[in-house]
Amino acid sequence: MRSKRPLTSPLPPRAQTLYCGHYFFDGNVPPLPTTSASLTVQLAARSYPIFIGRGLLADKSLFDRVVKQRDVLLVSNSTVAPLYAGEIARVLAPRRVLRADLADGESHKTLATVTRVLDVMVANRLGRDAIVVALGGGVVGDTAGFAAACYQRGVAFLQIPTTLLAQVDSSVGGKTGVNHPGGKNLIGAFHQPVAVIADTDTLTTLPDRELRAGLAEVIKYGLICDAVFFAWLEQNIDALLRRDAAALAHAIQRSCEVKADIVTRDEREQGDRALLNLGHTFGHAIEAATHYETWLHGEAVAVGMLMAARMSARMAWCPAEQVERLAELLRRAGLPTDMGNLRAAELRTLMKIDKKVAAGRVRLVLLRTIGAAVVTGDYPDAALDATLGATAA
Ligand SMILES: NC(=O)c1ccc[n+]([C@@H]2O[C@H](COP(=O)([O-])OP(=O)(O)OC[C@H]3O[C@@H](n4cnc5c(N)ncnc54)[C@H](O)[C@@H]3O)[C@@H](O)[C@H]2O)c1
Ligand SMILES: [Zn+2]
Repeated sequence: MRSKRPLTSPLPPRAQTLYCGHYFFDGNVPPLPTTSASLTVQLAARSYPIFIGRGLLADKSLFDRVVKQRDVLLVSNSTVAPLYAGEIARVLAPRRVLRADLADGESHKTLATVTRVLDVMVANRLGRDAIVVALGGGVVGDTAGFAAACYQRGVAFLQIPTTLLAQVDSSVGGKTGVNHPGGKNLIGAFHQPVAVIADTDTLTTLPDRELRAGLAEVIKYGLICDAVFFAWLEQNIDALLRRDAAALAHAIQRSCEVKADIVTRDEREQGDRALLNLGHTFGHAIEAATHYETWLHGEAVAVGMLMAARMSARMAWCPAEQVERLAELLRRAGLPTDMGNLRAAELRTLMKIDKKVAAGRVRLVLLRTIGAAVVTGDYPDAALDATLGATAA
């Protein structure tokens, strides 16, 4: 059973700025649910469903419910299209299905690629009543979504995420965009999809390392606001790594519920949505220090979450044994728990240019306990410096 109660103990003075809803662990871990579920991201006129389960890509009636348009631009990439685009094209028949297959990789998440997608739309005289369908990981979703946001000031957009990270994170919440030589995700727009269809069968072809990186974001949701889910992950991490369909469906559903809840409260990241950045300010600094080449995003977030937890424990906000629980879960998920030989000074410099800086102060997401995070700029610099120093060589 899950109970929703306010925290009873106060935060350290002046520290609290934002809360997530808290679910406290009462010792009962829910059983695995069935393999198919749906939930809704509540955003008034922009509300949309998320469908999660096995065999959804072959479900013609589902696509008929979601895709009302006659003209479809199916955007994918050179890795995912050969695996799944044919199946989608079949299920969308007899609509006109145009294809844009992008080169694979984060380095192609650029304005030049968006232009290519728009060129296909213009060349085929697509109208405002067309729909862009993104089939792939976060790179395809962000790029295709931004093209959909731009074309004729916005056309409909459907997300079919095929990585775990995309199924639990990037496909939900409406952030679209591309990188600029001056920084990651600097160019973009909020553009909510009409629906998200997360077929867990697509994860069977995902490389192991990508699956583990996605698990870092799943663990993040437990940490920020659901201790029951965190405990469930501790019990089911091996099933997830084995790609057990029911375990994956539950992890994706609970992750999407948490993200949807936060996005509903704060669609444009003016408040609570910043909680989703737990581990990301540290993680982005690690990614930037290694030029986005060595670490997958989820791997950097794993270490970043541990740094945030260690800093919280150093400030006596969070019990030390909870930091150990997190480290153990990350280890079992095959995720890194230290950042090797990166230099603390370099990370500190990079963290200051992270875009989550408010009023000249780096705001961090810190932990009160497993299942309760806060966003705050109110911490002693010494605690941050000691955390960086202790984790970096
Ligand atoms: N919009 C948001 O809110 C948001 C949130 C988080 C991350 N992101 C963005 O998401 C991107 C990262 O997404 P990602 O981790 O999905 O990476 P990705 O899109 O690069 O996919 C990872 C790799 O897996 C391959 N792949 C995808 N699905 C596959 C499948 N089913 N089988 C085999 N291979 C498959 C891809 O071709 C790629 O090589 C970043 O650009 C990040 O900025 C956006
Ligand atoms: Zn992330």
